[in-house]
Amino acid sequence: MIEQLDKQYVLQTYPRNYVNFKKGENATLFDESNNDYIDFTSGIGVVSVGHGNKRVADKIYEQVSNITHISNLYAIEPQAKLGEKIAKLSNMDVSTFFANSGAEANEGAIKLARKYGETKFENKRYKVITLENSFHGRTITTVRATGQSSMHSDNFAPYPEGFSYHNDIDDIYNAIDDETVAVMIELVQGEGGVQPFDKKEIQELAKFLKQNDILLIIDEVQTGAYRTGEFLATNVYEIQPDIITMAKGLGGGVPIGAVITTHKDLFTVGDHGSTFGGNYLSCAAALEVLDILEEEQKAGNILATTKYFNEKVEEVLANNSDIFTSKVGLGLMLGLRAKDGDILANIIKASFEQGLLILRAGKNTLRMLPALTITNEEIDKGFKRLQDALDSIK
Ligand SMILES: Cc1ncc(COP(=O)(O)O)c(C=O)c1O
Repeated sequence: MIEQLDKQYVLQTYPRNYVNFKKGENATLFDESNNDYIDFTSGIGVVSVGHGNKRVADKIYEQVSNITHISNLYAIEPQAKLGEKIAKLSNMDVSTFFANSGAEANEGAIKLARKYGETKFENKRYKVITLENSFHGRTITTVRATGQSSMHSDNFAPYPEGFSYHNDIDDIYNAIDDETVAVMIELVQGEGGVQPFDKKEIQELAKFLKQNDILLIIDEVQTGAYRTGEFLATNVYEIQPDIITMAKGLGGGVPIGAVITTHKDLFTVGDHGSTFGGNYLSCAAALEVLDILEEEQKAGNILATTKYFNEKVEEVLANNSDIFTSKVGLGLMLGLRAKDGDILANIIKASFEQGLLILRAGKNTLRMLPALTITNEEIDKGFKRLQDALDSIK
């Protein structure tokens, strides 16, 4: 029934699984026949505080019972408080523009950088350098900023000018010219293969860019909101970027995006906007999500869960060296590199049949991105199911 409805009435842009989930409790989902599934995906890094989180649900109910939306023509208290909270948790002197998604946040970041390049120099600077395995979104501009050439289909051309891609951090230095305004990177490439960069290399790049007045944009759409252990991966890497973007885990499932910057006066009235961005609903939800995650982190729970989950991934690697070659990732953003990427579709299908949701990233990485509140019991169950799935295809 759901398959027929979906196929008839929804544009078919995703390779969908036809399971009808009806309920979620933390990192466990239940379908319409009450079969349970352990969720190692958290909706691709979104449901950071788990499914059906009571505190977030209560906060949303309380907020929408009063006001859901006014417009950005009036001050919005939860938006101002969320901006304050982001500044406090990031430990940076920043202000935020609120959008509705990761791609939108990155669009905002690129616009901000372009204005910097237009207004701060005698010659116009507009070029943005990104990396080949990056992923920055699906709008025309963010698809262009995304380095993966498979994303640049002629079907959607022409694309905006001014983007170039480079293989690794070292190559960025050679690519810079006097029209370069910004470098935009993820600190752990998510979609590209759960690949973290070397901390020293990033710190050196950040220093070089600052000395040369080139903006550093860190795309924390996937890494932000405690995914890598600290509020931002930027905090883990101990750098001070000019612009940081967030989305995914920030709203715990409610759509939100954020363009966070130290250049507080660059955008002026009329430069950027969004009807929905930063409304009462999304900001109240995000405030509660951040309160929960801050408490979890202070109590040491995120660290303990990360340690336990990592140990389990190591075990899978050790027990399945015929399939996997290494463990990759940071915090609760983890992957197992497969010897042969072709096997991943079978692993994901077999896992699903065992009651485990798991992802792939890039060409050959099995990816795990659980809720940061996943319990040890859910972790044990999930890894038992993963091993059963692996055994079933050997
Ligand atoms: C690093 C990164 N940037 C941007 C995006 C795009 O975010 P959205 O799908 O919310 O537009 C994603 C989504 O996977 C991402 O991982």
